[in-house]
Amino acid sequence: MKILFYTPQADDAPAWTASLARELPAADVRVWSPADTAAADYAVLWRPPPELFAHRDGLRAIFVLGAGVDALLALERRGPGTLPAGVPLIRLEDTGMAEQMAEYAIHAALRYLRRFDEYELAQRAHAEVGTASWQALTPHPRESFHIGVLGLGALGAHVAKALASLGFPVRGYSRSAKTIDGVATFAGRNERPIFLNGLKMLVNLLPSTPETDGILNRDTFAHLARGAYLVNLARGAHLVERDLIDALDQGQIAAAMLDVFVQEPLPAEHPFRRMPRVTITPHISALTLREPAAAQIARKIEALARGENIGGIVDIRRGY
Ligand code: NAP
Ligand code: GLV
Repeated sequence: MKILFYTPQADDAPAWTASLARELPAADVRVWSPADTAAADYAVLWRPPPELFAHRDGLRAIFVLGAGVDALLALERRGPGTLPAGVPLIRLEDTGMAEQMAEYAIHAALRYLRRFDEYELAQRAHAEVGTASWQALTPHPRESFHIGVLGLGALGAHVAKALASLGFPVRGYSRSAKTIDGVATFAGRNERPIFLNGLKMLVNLLPSTPETDGILNRDTFAHLARGAYLVNLARGAHLVERDLIDALDQGQIAAAMLDVFVQEPLPAEHPFRRMPRVTITPHISALTLREPAAAQIARKIEALARGENIGGIVDIRRGY
């Protein structure tokens, strides 16, 4: 069996090919380089150049080294026929990302609940203009700190459960109806306003698709409690940046933690880099962990070879 591997971080490739070779000792794993059109049964990749798919017949499946497949599907939107027709596209399912997302969301929830962001601002003001504040702030009451999680998939469902287990009132939103212990669930566009109504914190874990891009906008913010907090852990395309800046100026949003951006790295001159109420992180809310990811891909390749069904196959029409 021949496996073609690609990641733009060329330095990472040897460790990945070694992990895949350990998991699948009979496989011939090679790193793709330009002009390589030799046969391959499976591709394992992240953000490939379109040339990787040129003159390539015979692929049985394409495995993506992440949960989101928007970058790969965008390739197809730019030039239809880029992805080999009829070849299943398979994304990672959790592989240690759900726990990382829960850590990030819990950090945000506790930070805003106890108003640590405001203590940080006070300390910064002291350093910058010498106002030595020493004032206790009343924490938000936990029972009315309603948190909403957009997306209840492999990551969102785990985050919603983790927040609920800490005693936060949690709501979740998805396309199809779900039941999750301790979480009030809502599905579909018609239920979106009830889901959003009065939320104190909104966590985004939706895939980026034509239906969800731009969902974090002025209209969405208007449904939240005044002075709500926004946590975007999914994709930059979900956020209408101008609407967030306006909502922060108007006090509708009190503060935001943003892990993802339309342009990454976030340009040095981008206003988010200087806004005291915006905390940015460099797309780290859930990193792909090599060993569990390689193991999941290997087990799926073995299952496909046995003719079994596997999870994580992307519905290309739906976009996730
Ligand atoms: P997933 O398992 O595919 O779950 C997606 C969830 O979103 C599902 O619950 C789905 O509803 C819901 N959804 C999709 N379209 C919707 C719509 N139009 N309206 C309402 N709900 C909709 O995905 P995942 O593994 O949880 O990952 C989610 C996203 O996180 C990824 O796509 C990626 O962009 C992002 N991510 C970011 C990082 C990072 O480091 N920042 C790391 C990993 C992933 P149904 O359940 O009804 O299908
Ligand atoms: C990372 O952003 C992923 O989609 O796994």
